[in-house]
Amino acid sequence: MMLGEESESADYWKKCGDEALANGVKGVVMMGAHWDCVGPSKIEVSTNPNPGKSPVAYVHPSKYVDYKLVPDLEGAQRCVSMLSADGFIASGNDKFEWIHDTYLILIRMFPGGCPPTTILSLNSRFDPHFHMKVGASLRSLRDEGYLLIGTGGAVHNLYRNRWAPMIKYSDNFAQETPPEEWAMEFRQSVEDVITNNSGPELRRAMTRLMKHPRFRDAHATDDHFMAAMFVSGAAGGEEDTGTYGQLKAETWELTNMCNSQFTIGGWSRTVPAAA
Ligand SMILES: [Fe+2]
Repeated sequence: MMLGEESESADYWKKCGDEALANGVKGVVMMGAHWDCVGPSKIEVSTNPNPGKSPVAYVHPSKYVDYKLVPDLEGAQRCVSMLSADGFIASGNDKFEWIHDTYLILIRMFPGGCPPTTILSLNSRFDPHFHMKVGASLRSLRDEGYLLIGTGGAVHNLYRNRWAPMIKYSDNFAQETPPEEWAMEFRQSVEDVITNNSGPELRRAMTRLMKHPRFRDAHATDDHFMAAMFVSGAAGGEEDTGTYGQLKAETWELTNMCNSQFTIGGWSRTVPAAA
């Protein structure tokens, strides 16, 4: 699968990682797509001091088993405190094993070593506004040099992918036909929203995407779209008005699944240069 292979997106992640290190990244805070917790207003934060990695289909273990994960226990505690102060029922989870949606990206971004990283869960109700507010709650971490990442997908419907080339030839990038109309349509709307809205307008436009007529075609389940809500919260404050997202890379796989890589904001804006 894409997270394990060379791709334009993987090259871009490496570039982001290099840039983060060059700017003295203090830590990484990530919301993925595969970990959700149950209960109204609940959110969990990874506090496992020695997290294992859950295995991933279609990626050879040699690509990830030896990579050392570095959990940011201090940062996790900060996240719990900030989220609690904003009314979330937030708690640490010291048993959580990291999942490929986050660790495979860290491996690509930081092949020389993982910076201190905190993983945030989703809430299983998949409320877009809830996840946007999680991002808003943690937005100020950016000013301290934390990199906030949401990892999911612009178009991600496993039921509508073309699996045959993957299963027969291990070729996830094969496109025997173009992506279907519903996938192209929704992918374009995601790009339009992120590149043409900023500040609180971005938050409103992102959450509104879940009412898009093609949303359910593009996402059979809501889990892979929640991270985009988190990002809109984290990069959609009043102070972010005028800072538009940029589409920096994109990789389609399994014909209909679109992985678009957006960046909102930059280091020079959010992190004061070191004296
Ligand atoms: Fe996934």
